[in-house]
Amino acid sequence: MMGRQLYWSNLMSDKLIIFDTTLRDGEQSPGASMTRDEKVRIAKALERLKVDIIEAGFPAASPGDFESVQAVARTVKNSIVCGLARAKDDDIDRAGEALKDAQHSRIHTFIATSPLHMLHKLKMTEDQVVENAVRAVKRARQFTDNVEFSPEDAGRSEEDFLCRVLEAVIKAGARTLNIPDTVGYAMPEQFGRLIARLRERIPNSDQAIFSVHCHNDLGLAVANSLSAVVNGARQVECTINGLGERAGNAALEEIVMAVKTRKDFFPCHTDIDTREIVPCSKLVSSITGFPVQPNKAIVGINAFAHESGIHQDGVIKHRETYEIMRAEEVGWSANRMVLGKHSGRNAFRARMAELGAEFVSEGELNSVFLKFKQLADKKHEIFDEDLQSLLNEADAESSEDEFVKLVALDFSSGMGERPQARVTIKAGQQEHQADFSASGGVVDASLRAIESLLNTEAKLTLYSVNNITSGTDAQGEVTVRLEKDGCIVNGLGADTDIVIASAKAYINAVNKLQAGNKRMHPQVNAVEV
Ligand code: KIV
Ligand code: ZN
Repeated sequence: MMGRQLYWSNLMSDKLIIFDTTLRDGEQSPGASMTRDEKVRIAKALERLKVDIIEAGFPAASPGDFESVQAVARTVKNSIVCGLARAKDDDIDRAGEALKDAQHSRIHTFIATSPLHMLHKLKMTEDQVVENAVRAVKRARQFTDNVEFSPEDAGRSEEDFLCRVLEAVIKAGARTLNIPDTVGYAMPEQFGRLIARLRERIPNSDQAIFSVHCHNDLGLAVANSLSAVVNGARQVECTINGLGERAGNAALEEIVMAVKTRKDFFPCHTDIDTREIVPCSKLVSSITGFPVQPNKAIVGINAFAHESGIHQDGVIKHRETYEIMRAEEVGWSANRMVLGKHSGRNAFRARMAELGAEFVSEGELNSVFLKFKQLADKKHEIFDEDLQSLLNEADAESSEDEFVKLVALDFSSGMGERPQARVTIKAGQQEHQADFSASGGVVDASLRAIESLLNTEAKLTLYSVNNITSGTDAQGEVTVRLEKDGCIVNGLGADTDIVIASAKAYINAVNKLQAGNKRMHPQVNAVEV
């Protein structure tokens, strides 16, 4: 089964397939690791966005990754769910197993083809690389008809060798050939030409869809991907907010809106529901703790804001003088008040369901509803973003990995006074309390009080506060990034009081550290901790 469309029946179709890798390459951004439940929530948002393929992870990386891919595969119905596997039997078998229950599945297998990678990383000859690639594709075909192959570091591979490998994997059964610019080295014209030449030179190229996967090290990921599209690529691999390894991948929202806005230029269209772009961007940002820069195209808070008087005047007279897209078209209007203090359980449940939340029991619904009422007492207007933050918190609390809970936090501060914090936490059945006084402020005092009880000795590498919505009564969302023994985690906490939000975020990060899901990186041979 192919999912939304039998799209490779017509290679020159005008459909551009959107392959989202936020949950896989996006998760390779240092600190962006997500729990299984967080991944499922993002996958549901990607399904609402109508992405064609969701790369849910690298099942061989760790038991946690395997479970996440399996959970996404069991949840998503309309998009194809994909698992990454190195060209190794065990990896492919793990991917096949994780995807077993998917309605529509794909295995994406890869091996490096550049002289540098073959010599220094794989220590393999060209013949061995071809042999492994073919074997991997054939093995993957035993699990699914839908197999994608990537020659890693294609951007620095020799064209003749690329042709040889790609021809062989098509014969072995690969139906999508993904050309990655793994290190973000390519230039748009050159990369577009490479796609055109591969399509021209590989004798059986008409049996496969050409895809591209560009990294943003030189800020060219979107430009390179679009140049490839002009030259016949019909799948783009991308991520929400351009998240991804190092400088990230091509941003989904930019690719989609470029193709849509310039339909006069691109001979293709996507099936993306663009009104879901901003809600999805906000969800990914809140779960990963990676804020979106204000001037980011499409999803930055300033992307549609006109500051200069001349521009404002022009837009009022005729919108198109300075605007090429409508803010509503990409979902900016979604920031509307949905519920208030007097909303009932049914309205709450219905809106939460629209946001992708499913409550496993009435008890779970009741506990989140109670938190909603408490929040509505503190702030009158409850937006979707507030509901998302309640879901983040509920996810953290229902997780089997919640080893430590925040029970109480009292603090005091004033001009000329030394800030004080008293914190009570629960670990197992035991409650513990500590007082701390710190010159750095009440946030500092609170986090130090927690640390004095837990002694994690983790390094705090990021502390950031963002307002979830606007207004002085808005909830502050705090991200705390902790690093210990090579493991990097992000903790999140939201509250109308940022001191409480900070304590929640710190404890959330500590719980994630404690869960210690050590993962292997797909692109190295050794195990990364
Ligand atoms: O950047 C890359 O080469 C990758 C591959 C696994 C496709 O992420
Ligand atoms: Zn990549």
